Amino acid sequence: MSGAARRESPLRVGVLASGNGSNLQAILDASASGGIDARVVVVISDKPEAFALARARRAGVPAVVIEKKNFASREKFDVRLVEILREHEVELVCLAGFMRILTPVVINAFPQRMLNIHPSLLPAFPGLDVQRKALEHGVRFSGCTVHVVDEGCDTGPIVIQAVVPLAPDDTPASLAARILDQEHRMYPAAIQLFAEGRIEIEGRRVSVRDAGIIETALVNPPPDDRSGKN
Ligand code: GAR
Repeated sequence: MSGAARRESPLRVGVLASGNGSNLQAILDASASGGIDARVVVVISDKPEAFALARARRAGVPAVVIEKKNFASREKFDVRLVEILREHEVELVCLAGFMRILTPVVINAFPQRMLNIHPSLLPAFPGLDVQRKALEHGVRFSGCTVHVVDEGCDTGPIVIQAVVPLAPDDTPASLAARILDQEHRMYPAAIQLFAEGRIEIEGRRVSVRDAGIIETALVNPPPDDRSGKN
């Protein structure tokens, strides 16, 4: 927990997840240990088999399934999603491996109060299968991004990013695992910034009050001793 003033009560977070839910777990763990001033009050999944639902139940958090087959349109699905989030008095919505693009029905209900995590350094490699795309493109660095959700796919204002260098023998799976390690640090960190009211959004730019700066550049492959000045 940083030195910023504590909230009167923990930020009420609703998590949307379609799969394994390791990011959900990181948020639940950070909340349980007091690392973030936030509490997950509902987990919603569009996939009944999502392991995220079991993680929620294990933590005593209501776990709700809504399946697209029961709704005539994306908008009707999203109306129900908003209802559930409102029933649980959610203040911040966190997409954690939620594999649906939301309509304005949800985005307008939670303006600038929805975050998403994505396993690349956006705007590079939005969409799916991004670790393979990063490897095929030959980038030296990838990473993860927490951003505010807008109507596009992985396009909203960027809150925080972590850089992960690629290794020569990386596979999509090994890169995904190292990026996930960083995701599990970044998502709770971003939620905490939000809980502390330190995030200001102006157009595409997000400013984080009292954030430090990084002065050292990362180089990959790292320069060896013979390369001179480094
Ligand atoms: C994470 O890598 C997350 O960044 C990604 O899905 C994975 C979910 O893992 N999300 C996206 O690609 C969204 N565009 P998890 O279910 O173990 O948290």
